[in-house]
Amino acid sequence: MRGVKIVGTGMCMPKYILTNEELSSFIDTSDEWIAQRTGIRQRRIVTDENTIDLSVKAAKEATEGIDPLEIDLIIVGTVSPHQVIPSVACSVQAQLGATNAMAFDISAACSGFIYGSKIAVEAIRCGSAKKALVIGAEVLSKVVDWSDRGTCILFGDGAGAVLYEQTDVNKILAFDVGSNGMLGQTLSLENQAQNNPLIKNEYSPSFIKMDGRAVYRFAVNVVPISIKKALEKAQVNIDEIKLFVLHQANERIISSVAKNLNVDLNLFFKNLDKYGNTSGASIPIALHEAKSNLKNGDKIVLTGFGGGLTWGSIVVQW
Ligand code: UT7
Repeated sequence: MRGVKIVGTGMCMPKYILTNEELSSFIDTSDEWIAQRTGIRQRRIVTDENTIDLSVKAAKEATEGIDPLEIDLIIVGTVSPHQVIPSVACSVQAQLGATNAMAFDISAACSGFIYGSKIAVEAIRCGSAKKALVIGAEVLSKVVDWSDRGTCILFGDGAGAVLYEQTDVNKILAFDVGSNGMLGQTLSLENQAQNNPLIKNEYSPSFIKMDGRAVYRFAVNVVPISIKKALEKAQVNIDEIKLFVLHQANERIISSVAKNLNVDLNLFFKNLDKYGNTSGASIPIALHEAKSNLKNGDKIVLTGFGGGLTWGSIVVQW
């Protein structure tokens, strides 16, 4: 079977920094509450950028030095696309000039990057692509209810990108992915109401709704199981892992996972204090920031979890 490796990463964050202090000026919360319960201190939110702008910049960085004509596949994991048609991926394709690529978006919320990576890696393994670009990109600030302090304090905007390439020596060692639609309503973002000549509805925008405690319980339960399953498939011992890059939702979730796995918390990368929860974008952003500390051959784990409910882990050799 063909091998796959990561050959490039990139990220792009909006310029505007929204601090916990500024949030506290228009909603009943405090820096102390947010920092203690989540670890978040600030997040980036768009002022004049959109999901496509952020994706294109992250993609350009991840594909620097690569002829865009060599990119066969572009997948964007997003639940906050700038528009539904054309997809963010097709808009990225146009701006990169990647005219040979098949391009589409997928909806798997905070697992979007992991799910997109699985599709991309399997496309390379079966020979239908040689270079595949996977982007996680969100502008959650437009789908957050800014009057709901249980959710609006958590989320941020941003994009991250990873370029996968076919190689002789395989570096993508294993995946574990799963979904549980039965728990779907614990974290939801409704689409437009039905509206046709027979059903007339007033348009009302919909926002993210979350049962935070239920999602928390789901995350601390499913993430260790997923990591163990992926490591077993990869035949890698947990002691060999140099870095765990988890979806950046809550510092307490990361600590709980580290404790459950009996792994030193220092091996878990964190940047949620700066960016908050950027859903599908958080893992490629974190990987891009973490990679300066990685050496060739280091084994790492990437794990996403969230809306759907969905989850997934990848064991990667750097
Ligand atoms: O990326 C998708 C995956 N999502 C997640 O992983 C989110 C998982 N869930 C969580 O991270 C946590 O559940 C939250 C951070 C969302 C909430 O933390 P919590 O410890 O579960 O708090 P809670 O919702 O149980 O609320 C505790 C108290 C409540 O007050 P009472 O009823 O005890 O008087 C809330 O009204 O804190 C109150 N509260 C706040 N207070 C100040 C809730 N939000 C805030 C706030 N500021 N922003």
